[in-house]
Amino acid sequence: MKVESIHHVGIAVKDLDKALEFFSDLLGLKVEKTVVVEEHGMKAAWLKVGPVWLELMEPLGPEGPVAKFLARRGEGIHHVAITVEDIRASCEELRKTGVELVYEEPKVAIDGSLYNFIHPKSAHGVLVELRQEAGG
Ligand code: CO
Repeated sequence: MKVESIHHVGIAVKDLDKALEFFSDLLGLKVEKTVVVEEHGMKAAWLKVGPVWLELMEPLGPEGPVAKFLARRGEGIHHVAITVEDIRASCEELRKTGVELVYEEPKVAIDGSLYNFIHPKSAHGVLVELRQEAGG
């Protein structure tokens, strides 16, 4: 498989507005977009840091993966997303060697990109998001 770059780092926060007081007001990073992802029970602010994004994620309620992460681990780095050339081929290759993926098939994000996750137990404790850009 071919990993092209780190695309973004996902950070779980309790309160997006409060987090932006640090990441935006203090560090001076600009919020490029804010999205609500009902499917994953969260809203996210996307900030660009050079070629890499930060995805600040706040849960919409007590359910969902971000809420569960916060309850278990508190605020902090939730996942690291890497761009791969061919996500389907990458998933197949990883699965063959016994790596556990979260979804059977890659999912389609709001922006048309494809994504899946490598389970942290297969990646030394890191939840790794695999993504392939739309049209890539
Ligand atoms: Co992400």
